[in-house]
Amino acid sequence: MECKGITVDDLRSAEWYAGQDRNSYIHRAWMRRGLPDNALDATKPQIAIANTASDLTPCNSHLNEVAESVKQGIWEAGGVPYNLPVVSLGETQVKPTAMLWRNMAAMAIEEMLRANPIDGVVLLGGCDKTIPALLMAAASVDLPAIVVPGGPMLTGHFRGEALGCGTDVWRLSEEVRGGQITNGQFLQSESSMIRSKGHCNTMGTASTMAVVAEALGMTIPGFAGTPAPDSRLLALSHETGRLIVDMIREDRRPSDILTRESFLNAIVAVAAVGGSTNSVVHLLAIAGRLGLDLTLDDFDAAGRDVPLMVNLQPSGTFLMGDLYRAGGVLAALSQVKELFSPVPITVTGRPLVEYLTDQPVFDETVIFPRESPLMADAGIAVLRGNLAPRGAIIKPAAATAELLQHTGPAVVFDSIEDMRARLDDPDLDVTADSVLVLRGCGPRGYPGMPEVGNMPLPRKLLEQGVRDMVRISDARMSGTAYGTVILHVAPEAAAGGPLAFVRTGDIITVDVAGRSLSLAVSDAELALRGQSAASEAAYAAPQRGWAKLYVEHVMQADTGADLDFLVGSSGDRVTRESH
Ligand code: FES
Ligand code: MG
Repeated sequence: MECKGITVDDLRSAEWYAGQDRNSYIHRAWMRRGLPDNALDATKPQIAIANTASDLTPCNSHLNEVAESVKQGIWEAGGVPYNLPVVSLGETQVKPTAMLWRNMAAMAIEEMLRANPIDGVVLLGGCDKTIPALLMAAASVDLPAIVVPGGPMLTGHFRGEALGCGTDVWRLSEEVRGGQITNGQFLQSESSMIRSKGHCNTMGTASTMAVVAEALGMTIPGFAGTPAPDSRLLALSHETGRLIVDMIREDRRPSDILTRESFLNAIVAVAAVGGSTNSVVHLLAIAGRLGLDLTLDDFDAAGRDVPLMVNLQPSGTFLMGDLYRAGGVLAALSQVKELFSPVPITVTGRPLVEYLTDQPVFDETVIFPRESPLMADAGIAVLRGNLAPRGAIIKPAAATAELLQHTGPAVVFDSIEDMRARLDDPDLDVTADSVLVLRGCGPRGYPGMPEVGNMPLPRKLLEQGVRDMVRISDARMSGTAYGTVILHVAPEAAAGGPLAFVRTGDIITVDVAGRSLSLAVSDAELALRGQSAASEAAYAAPQRGWAKLYVEHVMQADTGADLDFLVGSSGDRVTRESH
């Protein structure tokens, strides 16, 4: 990385602090409050710590402690740190879905980074939507930025067995519905599920987005996957504080790090670790903020032939603490080193691939050897056809191999409420060969594209021992979920996509190897069909506030479900004074 050789006079914060006029007086005077006299000198990088700590985002509640370590590192390197609490999103807590608020968080963070007298930012995230929102914001403003991934929690155990966050909730609740365990036994596991601070310990969306941040080059290499309670998390946070000061001095910005090639590297990394399908909408949205040309087809092309190297839930058995013990994220990515572009740099200025050598593996049941991966072709596949003209996705690593090629009759649900009302009806005309279709759950229709695509199986089939079926929707699914689940159908039903016109009994064919998803109904017949009145009645029609803005401007899943007017980088300039 070439140093652009700026002088201290070029620090952005000097626009606030360096003058001798009334406005500079105001900017300086109100900030003193115990800061040393030289803190606002033009030589001192002013650094925000964009902090998603919140008691209502339980996975991020430890980030204030992390921020203290970052602060120490910033002071040590000659910068001045400022804690900047930003909009936080607790995946399990906020309704109707945290995804409705991702763009709101990203927009609010972007504006606060731009409006304030800062030269760079440290991004503290963890729970699913927090790292994506922070990266979208940082990409938009393009001030030097670095991610601290808050880290996974320690593994909890129930009756001697490890519990995977999320994944085991889905599994155990289906066992209750199938009659294998009682509801009482299920509820007993609740207090064992969350053992410590940190985010979900499966390779769900939070773990995936930490790996993504690292593969994009936005963390200190080797940071992702460090458990939240581990003292090394604080040590790396301290080091991150030192590094952001260097990054400002060397003028290393997100646009230097986040290139098309770094996104392709992230796609490879997601495939190699069996990462979450949610990474697709998040990566597309971040790339959109930079004006980069990244499409759904890039996911299919870059992820194709990438082997699954780690044995982690939901695709496998183990949990994030096991991955750390076995050598960590870099050891896993090293197994497929040759698939990464050597060009993109990281926050250190050095290429990612430089960190993918000499990474020993200490447990080959967790990180598999290159010659014998857990699965040969683990990339997220993009399906197209007359049911999904702009694409749909499936994660083969979390699916049943025999169902990746399947033809069956549709059983259609017009909304999540319709599904809940009828799914367990003993008279529902459904067999294991049926294809469950759920619509009205896209970005616009719900609104916010909730994680309901892994819809439960009909009780009568669970009782017969059925454990997976083909399911299709315009929704997302939790990164901790599994099954032969086709997601993100675009355009969604509420945007007039063909999904709106499917009827129960229509024959649907899924061919993952052939990358197709088709409905055996002619275009002419589809054109004659109207939307289901029940469907249309269920689509969101908010009258005010964020939800109204969102529904009017949200893009479809195939372009990242950002708001249309937030695409493209807007930079760090503010044109007018505040007084
Ligand atoms: Fe926060 Fe899973 S709920 S990471
Ligand atoms: Mg989730």
